[in-house]
Amino acid sequence: MNGHYFLQGLVSLLFSVLSRAQGSRQLRLVDGGSPCAGRVEILDRSSWGTICDDGWDLDDARVVCRQLGCGEALDATVSSSFGAGSGPIWLDNVRCTGKESHVWRCPSRGWGKHYCDHSEDAGVICSGFVRLAGGDGPCSGRVEVHSGEAWIPVSDGNFKLSTAQVICAELGCGKAVSVLGHMPFRESNGRVWAEEFRCEGEEPKLWSCPRVPCPGGTCHHSGAVQVVCSVYTDIRLMKNGTSSCEGQVEMNISGQWRALCASHWSLANANVVCHQLGCGVAISTPNRAEGSDQLWKAWFHCSGTESFLWKCPVTALGVPDCSHGNTASVICSGNQTQVLPQCNDSVSEPAGSAASEESAPNCSDSRQLRLVDGGGPCAGRVEILDQGSWGTICDDGWDLDDARVVCRQLGCGEALNATRSAHFGAGSGPIWLDDLNCTGNESHVWRCPSRGWGRHDCRHKEDAGVICSEFLALRMVSEDQLCAGWLEVFYNGTWGSVCRSPMDDVTVSIICRQLGCGDSGSLNSSVGLREGSRPRWVDLIQCRKTDTSLWQCPSDPWKYSSCSPKEEAYISCAGRRPKSCPTAAPCTDREKLRLRGGDSECSGRVEVWHSGSWGTVCDDSWSLAEAEVVCQQLGCGRALEALRAAAFGPGNGSIWLDEVRCWGRESSLWDCAAEPWGQSDCKHEQDAGVRCSGARTTLPLTTAALSSYEESLAEAVYEELDDFVTRKESLLGSPGTVRSTVTTDLNQIRGLMSLLKIMMMLKRYQCLGLFLPLRGVRRKYPQRRRMG
Ligand SMILES: *[C@@H]1O[C@H](CO)[C@@H](O)[C@H](O)[C@H]1NC(C)=O
Ligand SMILES: *[C@@H]1O[C@H](CO)[C@@H](O)[C@H](O)[C@H]1NC(C)=O
Ligand SMILES: *[C@@H]1O[C@H](CO)[C@@H](O)[C@H](O)[C@H]1NC(C)=O
Ligand SMILES: *[C@@H]1O[C@H](CO)[C@@H](O)[C@H](O)[C@H]1NC(C)=O
Ligand SMILES: *[C@@H]1O[C@H](CO)[C@@H](O)[C@H](O)[C@H]1NC(C)=O
Ligand SMILES: *[C@@H]1O[C@H](CO)[C@@H](O)[C@H](O)[C@H]1NC(C)=O
Ligand SMILES: *[C@@H]1O[C@H](CO)[C@@H](O)[C@H](O)[C@H]1NC(C)=O
Ligand SMILES: *[C@@H]1O[C@H](CO)[C@@H](O)[C@H](O)[C@H]1NC(C)=O
Ligand SMILES: *[C@@H]1O[C@H](CO)[C@@H](O)[C@H](O)[C@H]1NC(C)=O
Ligand SMILES: *[C@@H]1O[C@H](CO)[C@@H](O)[C@H](O)[C@H]1NC(C)=O
Ligand SMILES: *[C@@H]1O[C@H](CO)[C@@H](O)[C@H](O)[C@H]1NC(C)=O
Repeated sequence: MNGHYFLQGLVSLLFSVLSRAQGSRQLRLVDGGSPCAGRVEILDRSSWGTICDDGWDLDDARVVCRQLGCGEALDATVSSSFGAGSGPIWLDNVRCTGKESHVWRCPSRGWGKHYCDHSEDAGVICSGFVRLAGGDGPCSGRVEVHSGEAWIPVSDGNFKLSTAQVICAELGCGKAVSVLGHMPFRESNGRVWAEEFRCEGEEPKLWSCPRVPCPGGTCHHSGAVQVVCSVYTDIRLMKNGTSSCEGQVEMNISGQWRALCASHWSLANANVVCHQLGCGVAISTPNRAEGSDQLWKAWFHCSGTESFLWKCPVTALGVPDCSHGNTASVICSGNQTQVLPQCNDSVSEPAGSAASEESAPNCSDSRQLRLVDGGGPCAGRVEILDQGSWGTICDDGWDLDDARVVCRQLGCGEALNATRSAHFGAGSGPIWLDDLNCTGNESHVWRCPSRGWGRHDCRHKEDAGVICSEFLALRMVSEDQLCAGWLEVFYNGTWGSVCRSPMDDVTVSIICRQLGCGDSGSLNSSVGLREGSRPRWVDLIQCRKTDTSLWQCPSDPWKYSSCSPKEEAYISCAGRRPKSCPTAAPCTDREKLRLRGGDSECSGRVEVWHSGSWGTVCDDSWSLAEAEVVCQQLGCGRALEALRAAAFGPGNGSIWLDEVRCWGRESSLWDCAAEPWGQSDCKHEQDAGVRCSGARTTLPLTTAALSSYEESLAEAVYEELDDFVTRKESLLGSPGTVRSTVTTDLNQIRGLMSLLKIMMMLKRYQCLGLFLPLRGVRRKYPQRRRMG
């Protein structure tokens, strides 16, 4: 169209002028733990300087996040909350509209002019450009990137491990250990990011990787792509200062090599390490007292069959301090092709002559032991691997002495219970042992006296199990709430409380996720002292975001009284609901409302939950005021459009509401007037829909500076221009590094776009001047009746 040619001309003109004026300023975020959070710093004339926090708000943060390719702004921080910077203070009183391309293009006091010191340095927290969603925490899941408006999944077409490496590093999640394609999408519409990423692996951020637009804007794919990262990938055996196939076990944790503590280091773990390093099989695990200050206390619970140590369950919570120099070490066979002689696992040893771990012979232990279906590596049905088959133990004569051998062999502490009658469910496969009669001192459960290997008169309903003292469980205790309450951990056979200092957001969110209570939560400090007394098991829990369960989080060692009774933790998770509410059904007003058939969770056909089913809303009298209430209630920002006539396709089920009439300021659709539930003369062809401005957010709405009309207009223009930019991008787009330099130029073009946008916005306002006052005119209704 002509308009586009005109725009193109104007853009190239402005671009050439401004790119000359544009110096070599750079922007970065410092000390925030990721490239997308921290103190804002600008490089000018070879000095990094800061921004003063006077008037610093979310609109300013938006510009910073967009400029850095860091997605949307979540917070604008003040008072040097990421620490004080040094050097010049380049900007003060920054007043961005939120649409500028560069933060130094926003109105301010002027370059280098300020009345501040570094205690007022501004910071931002951005969503980041990339995230892993729907997995076991922020370090695994489907790859999604932020378009500026919404999170869009990346397709599995041509997705490479090197790209995954960049993502894991950017997220502070360690190394990529698996990339899986063919994953189902979160939403059924199948929308995917219209570019392929071609990272080399060394780029600092996904944003800086070369990209290739997919032909016709549609990437060829067979599903979403899932990436799993791990921090337990870098491992080595060190002997006398050099790395080899024997020596003390070291891992690169939190950026430095640390030796592992020897307590609970087993031959099964050692086998996995030898295998992973290409060093054959483990021969022994001698205790070695090579001095090392940075001992890292964590217990791995490998079964021995894992091909990598990161696949083994790991526990750090409550792990006791390691005595100095007590480092884990391994001697591997060192020869990958060498096959060790099979150990002489005679199943009936005379009692009392049990061999200990230290005198393990130089043979390969063909058998392995594990606990299954107990909710952790230290409780469950006992299973033994032999000749490629996992089998069970019969419960005839099964007692605590037998359980003791199992718990010790697995590094799970003391035996608390020896369970019978398939307490943890019936297994399958062979039943390897029966009539076990351990003394409790044997090193391996198959060295205990028994009927003989594979001999039994049992069925799987008699499978034996154990509960060991290191078995851990987690729960919340509350009279009337689900997903909120006093936090309790099961340890050493007893439920006890958890101490709350200095539990931060990362720790709380890991706890909530582990309990299936949503991805976030908060420590509730306004509850009084808890009645009764119990152990207060653990204090100083400091989860890292790479931890996938509370058990992996470092803390003080287990103690019966770790803190004062005043410090017991009470937690409220995002998924909190009254116990009176049936778990599966929507309960709160917000849950009883949803949008379907749109391309995000913030647009679509309006559906409401009533009387046990989802139904739709008729479009009679459906207007922006009602849409506004829906968008606000869903936390989706402002309403952009109220759509009629089943614009998102007809729904099914009941038509629950008709003649809905809101003022527009109600906090819930349930506060608006309407016909009685289920009474309507409509068909599904009249289903109402909405399009809201935002992605779902929990941010306070006060931060929205523009009125919804300003915003909607701005956005409409934005879309038009973005469309243009996209085309321009595909014209310029060519694979490889060329493309990555072009990206920067496009950012500058985008900057000019904002200029143009403002011009066009002003124009629109003139045209639509009549439209604006509409908002002020409140519609009047004779009767207002609350729904419900
Ligand atoms: C081990 O290190 C010590 C001192 O660092 C050195 O004297 C010794 O020769 C080394 N031994 C071997 C086998 O490399
Ligand atoms: C440890 O790993 C980090 C990344 O996880 C890396 O930056 C660092 O260089 C590694 N340290 C060593 C000594 O290899
Ligand atoms: C590894 O073991 C195999 C079989 O035992 C043997 O033939 C080979 O020579 C060994 N290789 C080395 C490097 O020791
Ligand atoms: C295994 O040990 C048993 C008794 O301890 C012995 O009789 C048998 O000969 C041993 N087998 C091998 C292959 O060493
Ligand atoms: C196993 O082999 C290593 C090295 O070959 C040796 O030092 C060690 O004493 C052997 N262990 C046993 C129990 O024979
Ligand atoms: C474990 O044993 C104790 C007492 O020995 C008993 O009270 C408890 O119910 C047992 N637990 C299970 C799960 O069997
Ligand atoms: C278990 O072994 C002890 C000796 O260690 C023996 O007295 C006892 O009879 C055995 N029990 C069974 C059921 O075989
Ligand atoms: C187990 O070993 C300990 C120490 O090695 C010993 O004192 C105890 O008597 C042994 N118990 C049995 C039942 O053999
Ligand atoms: C665990 O329980 C045992 C006995 O029930 C006790 O001896 C031990 O001290 C307890 N451990 C802790 C850390 O409380
Ligand atoms: C804290 O708990 C109390 C009592 O259960 C509750 O009334 C309050 O709303 C909670 N506060 C938060 C922030 O969850
Ligand atoms: C409504 O449509 C959904 C999705 O197509 C389907 O799962 C559901 O069974 C339908 N319900 C009725 C009552 O037709």
